[in-house]
Amino acid sequence: MQNDNLTYQHLVELDQRYLLHPQHHPADHAEPVIFARGEGAILWDLRGRRYIDGLSCLWNVNVGHGRRELAAAAAKQMEQLAFANSYCGSSNEPAITLAARLATLTPATLNTVFFTTGGAESNDTAFKTARYYWHLRGQPHKTKIISRANGYHGVTLGATSATGLPAFHARFGPLAPDFLHVPAMDAGALEARIRQEGPETVAAFIAEPVQGAGGVYPPPAEYFPRVREICDKYDVLFIADEVITGFGRTGTFWGLDQWNVVPDILSFAKGITSGYQPLGGVIFSDAIRDVIYNQPPDVKWMHAYTYSAHPTCCAVAHANLDIFERERLVERARQLGGRLQEGLGVLRGEPYVADVRGLGMMAAVEVKPNAINGGGAAIAAELKRRGLFTRFRADIVMFAPPLVIQEDELDELVEIVVSTVRDLSFPGHR
Ligand SMILES: Cc1ncc(COP(=O)(O)O)c(C=O)c1O
Repeated sequence: MQNDNLTYQHLVELDQRYLLHPQHHPADHAEPVIFARGEGAILWDLRGRRYIDGLSCLWNVNVGHGRRELAAAAAKQMEQLAFANSYCGSSNEPAITLAARLATLTPATLNTVFFTTGGAESNDTAFKTARYYWHLRGQPHKTKIISRANGYHGVTLGATSATGLPAFHARFGPLAPDFLHVPAMDAGALEARIRQEGPETVAAFIAEPVQGAGGVYPPPAEYFPRVREICDKYDVLFIADEVITGFGRTGTFWGLDQWNVVPDILSFAKGITSGYQPLGGVIFSDAIRDVIYNQPPDVKWMHAYTYSAHPTCCAVAHANLDIFERERLVERARQLGGRLQEGLGVLRGEPYVADVRGLGMMAAVEVKPNAINGGGAAIAAELKRRGLFTRFRADIVMFAPPLVIQEDELDELVEIVVSTVRDLSFPGHR
């Protein structure tokens, strides 16, 4: 332990001096948790402290930590062919078979897969392709992308512009032109905005089936069926950002399956490899595929990433999907999701709790403004102290544990959250 502490102090010094983190502020790294090991839903830090992984790290480690068969799949592919170019005229077997496999896992009209390395790249691919599609359909003025307040789509310039959380815009402006925002769960507002802008100027609408990073907001049941009708009515492509909600998170394979709605473009990342390799992608409808495929060579779809269709990432995705099938993780997410929602639900109606909400294995507890000194940050810090690691936004604390979490670990998670929120709300009564 003495040695681990020395190692810890040394690493913290190097971390502070050399490593710029996502959403960086040095105050967050005064005493960082340095993760060292994981098994299932449990993480251990360098100093041997145990944490329940309350958010599957970043909503992505769906099959849990320490899966040796995923390491073996990566090693096997790397030994044979770690990387190969998949540009014009080149391909590789893991990518080909993974694309074909994904086509069997999506609704019948979604069959054409382009691979990226993450969610923001996937969404930028979707935006650019929506514009390309309309251009080639003789409507070059259909360029606007409508997204929703409180949505999160990543931080490339396009994805930042679509993201509806102002904190991600401040001091990075100007944002990309032709990105517009509408209120989140209001289909009427979407229709009104399309009409106001002129449907002949709107390329696509993007939405997360359940808003994730914004604070876990599931939609009313009628919302997405209505969105689908509106997009059809005005010839607007519907992009589903399934980066968090894909791969079983809500208890169905895709989030939109909850409402039997089929998008024109589906963005995915995270759960495709459960974070064991960086991989994302976009699945296009047959109508979009037909436009891309039926052009003369000088009108080709000039979009590309070096690591598109990375063979090692695709091999790991296959092994990850094998685990999903063998362990019936979508079904498991549905069952455990009920337990998670019910468990946290005991906080509903308590005087300091504004809302408890979620769907499947995504949940949030929101406390009333000023009910707890320090809000979500204080709750998350106390959860960490009690052995539960997760993330917060404002007064909202979010939960999305690995789909393989054991029942007793899930109950432990719930018990830590409930007791922490109660203790912090009435500090005098601890
Ligand atoms: C819904 C959604 N879309 C896109 C992204 C961006 O993904 P990435 O960080 O891999 O670019 C995220 C990341 O959390 C996300 O939650």
